[in-house]
Amino acid sequence: DTTLVDDVTARLRDVPDFPKPGIIFKDITPVLADPRLFGRVITAMSAPFRGQHITKVVGIEARGFLLGAPIALALHAGFVPARKPGKLPYRSVVERYSLEYGADGLELHEDALQQGERVLIVDDVLATGGTAEASSRLVKKLGGDLVGYSFLINLDFLGGAKRLGPDKVTSLLTF
Ligand code: PRP
Ligand code: MG
Repeated sequence: DTTLVDDVTARLRDVPDFPKPGIIFKDITPVLADPRLFGRVITAMSAPFRGQHITKVVGIEARGFLLGAPIALALHAGFVPARKPGKLPYRSVVERYSLEYGADGLELHEDALQQGERVLIVDDVLATGGTAEASSRLVKKLGGDLVGYSFLINLDFLGGAKRLGPDKVTSLLTF
């Protein structure tokens, strides 16, 4: 799908100074609102992992849920939410991380993965990589086998892919 990158780029909305001064927020809601474009994005973000026997897709709260759940269905895998602290109802494991703007944590239910499950981590944006790296630590804590990461947008100048291991990182758009 050679024109997909152009079509998504045209529909992304740059919002300056959100949520803090100096941050240019990439608003993906116009992409999600277009059913054909949304479908093409899900197909493209899943494609590198077809045939890789992914058994669970971990989607990162909040925007990683929007992409991770349909990618899980496309790959015939289960979906696991990585949630902000205090949101999961059952016993959970936690990892803390620092963010481009602030600090936070993520949790998985302690039984969300079986030993050796093949896991794909999904999020909308890769920035510094702190969020995705915390998610990868959670996956490893539960004995999962991290196959790779699928992002819609890689802000490569922030060094996230380098931090995560470039061979494991895929993205539709790179800035
Ligand atoms: C944003 C984005 C990624 C993360 C990337 O999420 O959706 O999850 O930051 O940053 P990093 O690579 O520097 O860690 P945010 O924490 O703003 O939360 P949200 O998805 O709930 O809006
Ligand atoms: Mg996020």
